[in-house]
Amino acid sequence: MPWQRRTYRGSDLTRALNIEDLRAIGRRRVPNFVFEYLEGGAEDEASLRHNRAALEALRFAPRTLVDTCAREQRIVLFGRESPSPLVIAPTGGNGVLYPRGDLALARAAAAAGIPFCLSTVSTLRLEQIAAEAGGRLWMQLYLMQERKLAEDIVRRAQAAGFEALVFTTDANVFGHREWDRRNYRAPGKPTLRNLIDAFRHPRWLYQVLLRSGAPRFENLVDFLPPGKASAIGGSTIIPQMFSASISWRDVAWLREIWRGKLLIKGVLTVADAEQAAALGCDGIVLTNHGGRQLDYCVAPIEVLPEIVAAVGQRLTVIIDSGFRRGSDVLKALALGAHAVMVARATLYGLTAGGEAGVRRALEILSTEIDRTLGHLGCCSVRELGPQLLRRG
Ligand SMILES: Cc1cc2nc3c(=O)[nH]c(=O)nc-3n(C[C@H](O)[C@H](O)[C@H](O)COP(=O)(O)O)c2cc1C
Repeated sequence: MPWQRRTYRGSDLTRALNIEDLRAIGRRRVPNFVFEYLEGGAEDEASLRHNRAALEALRFAPRTLVDTCAREQRIVLFGRESPSPLVIAPTGGNGVLYPRGDLALARAAAAAGIPFCLSTVSTLRLEQIAAEAGGRLWMQLYLMQERKLAEDIVRRAQAAGFEALVFTTDANVFGHREWDRRNYRAPGKPTLRNLIDAFRHPRWLYQVLLRSGAPRFENLVDFLPPGKASAIGGSTIIPQMFSASISWRDVAWLREIWRGKLLIKGVLTVADAEQAAALGCDGIVLTNHGGRQLDYCVAPIEVLPEIVAAVGQRLTVIIDSGFRRGSDVLKALALGAHAVMVARATLYGLTAGGEAGVRRALEILSTEIDRTLGHLGCCSVRELGPQLLRRG
């Protein structure tokens, strides 16, 4: 019998040891086209792969013989303490992965004491999340051709008490996710093969589609033509609504009408980071949208040091794209990021087991952060710095 390393193949969340285990559980629970929506990137998926490669290329040079009994991972984010340096990133269509998916993510974030960012294209209304989840809530904004839609979201998020508005700027033109195009025979209409696959996942079919009807883009229903709000295949309908005209003028406008914290999600250069600071933004998110937009894009971790050097004292710098381990998170903090957003890592948890799955994902990441801090000879994230890293 040749030597073999076995991975966990059951569905007990408590036995998932890492994010990859949750991914494997989640993958079995949903039809292939749903998992591909969660997982995939644009075009050749070079950005998607490179996000991981760039994080993996960074190696630690740890200190030793440091007493690390009193480890903690608290950070201060926009003047408030957060028990861990994580933020749940905005993702659309969460209700397709798991019933009431947005609420499951928001509640798990609230339980962990970290912010949850709701997407414009969520499948529950922002007011429902504010009423039923609590915790620190941020609202992501897509500025679409119909500008009234943005005004509506901003007004409602303000009234519902959201702490921050996160304006996503890297979706002026929608990324070409070729697999997504192949999964539908017409906009919103899955191919026969995918319909058959849906019937092979009866639990998903019942919970997500049949029990209370297909999830819809609830924040946008008033602006979409009747019958076009379904989140199943929404990725083949919504992109036409995106606007290539968005510009820094919109940021100035948002700064005027939004009273809370304002972040720009989509910054990858010093010039744009400077512009965000000059227009009075509070923070930026360095991202390539998890490899779902521009292909052959730099990984955010590669441009982090130069951007932190330029604006790190004036802006809160958050980073995402490719973070799957606590060690990844600590690499970004060592290079000066103030916090890390995670999307797929917590979506794998959601797909594996709803709120309990997201809680498990956050628990895994924060346990890994804690363990790695110990290995590095650090008691807190404030002790991290570029001296602990080498490029492999
Ligand atoms: C399924 C999925 C849906 C997403 N939807 C949105 C969205 O509605 N708005 C947005 O700003 N970013 C969206 N993103 C991008 C994430 O916010 C985040 O930038 C990216 O996924 C981070 O990379 P990671 O998935 O490797 O953690 C989405 C990502 C995924 C995987």
